Amino acid sequence: MKAAVLNEVGKTLEIEERDAPKPGAGEVVVALKAAALNRRDFWITQGLYPGVKCPVVLGSDGAGVVSAVGEGVDAAMVGREVVIDPGLDWGDDERAQAEAFHILGMPRDGTFAEAVVVPAGNVHDKPGRLSWAEAAALPLGGVTAFRAAIVQGAAGHGRRVLVTGVGGGVATFAVQFAHAVGSTVFVTSSSEAKIDAAIRLGATAGYDYTADGWAKRLVDEHGPMDVIIDSAGGAGYNQLLDACAPGGAIVNYGSTAGPPAKLDMFKVFWKQLRLQGTTMGSPADFAAMLHDVNAHAIRPVIDRVMPLAEADAAVALMKGSPQFGKIVLEIAA
Ligand SMILES: NC(=O)c1ccc[n+]([C@@H]2O[C@H](COP(=O)([O-])OP(=O)(O)OC[C@H]3O[C@@H](n4cnc5c(N)ncnc54)[C@H](OP(=O)(O)O)[C@@H]3O)[C@@H](O)[C@H]2O)c1
Repeated sequence: MKAAVLNEVGKTLEIEERDAPKPGAGEVVVALKAAALNRRDFWITQGLYPGVKCPVVLGSDGAGVVSAVGEGVDAAMVGREVVIDPGLDWGDDERAQAEAFHILGMPRDGTFAEAVVVPAGNVHDKPGRLSWAEAAALPLGGVTAFRAAIVQGAAGHGRRVLVTGVGGGVATFAVQFAHAVGSTVFVTSSSEAKIDAAIRLGATAGYDYTADGWAKRLVDEHGPMDVIIDSAGGAGYNQLLDACAPGGAIVNYGSTAGPPAKLDMFKVFWKQLRLQGTTMGSPADFAAMLHDVNAHAIRPVIDRVMPLAEADAAVALMKGSPQFGKIVLEIAA
């Protein structure tokens, strides 16, 4: 089978011919139709992700057809159209993952390939409404956004929710999940075009996070936010403290812009803010996310679809964040 392999950090992804993978006990092989990129793939190629091990087939997101099952797995699964939950060994605690938790696509070979092996419990029925590209775009970004907005942020009817950096793959899902449950959603972006696209997805208004005083303008025009969903951190983090309502929550799933140089602790305690971390989601979160995608007819936002042969160019594209939504690799028709 063909696979996009990272042989060394800082090098290009090579398309290589590999032996077709075989399922172990309790596992299935998924013949992939499409895979999707996450910033994690870019961080790994740059050596900016902890514990990078090479050679490895990258890719956490994928959708396809079960083509073989290992010992102890019902043979009737063969032929099922599935999406893959990329979270492995979450553990028993819904509040946080166990130490053994890891993510498909490093160290375990991932989805930028014609086939992948995963535990049988990690495949779920593909929502029938979605194309293969849309289904492949869903898993990692979808579950991260669902847990951030719905589980940790408790976005709900009548709540004001701010999603920062809306061009991001996770952020576009967060807008959709929060809007679907009746929240009034606001966004930030460095791009006017992405703000317009977010408004078409259901957001009420957007602000340029590179402009001075955006948080004050947001609060003056629409009131303070009950929930803020952020993956940037960085120098702008203190503005989130300004934008958040007393008693509100800032839910963080990343730190693309690094740590804030200083944190205004007075605002944190005086406003009784909750600073909540979150990472991907448990198997229960993944199932609930799929339920909401079906119940609210949510459709992943696809920025572009490229062939597997262009996996390296696709990952390199992420450097400048030109995308709105997900970059997808087409693997089979
Ligand atoms: N903890 C987890 O489970 C988890 C899961 C997924 C992702 N993440 C992390 O979350 C981050 C986003 O991931 P992704 O896959 O959604 O990435 P992505 O699709 O590459 O999104 C990048 C977006 O981040 C926004 N951004 C960059 N700098 C910013 C800043 N200073 N302030 C506000 N927004 C900024 C930009 O939005 P605009 O283009 O709109 O300006 C950009 O489009 C990454 O750090 C990733 O590692 C964590």
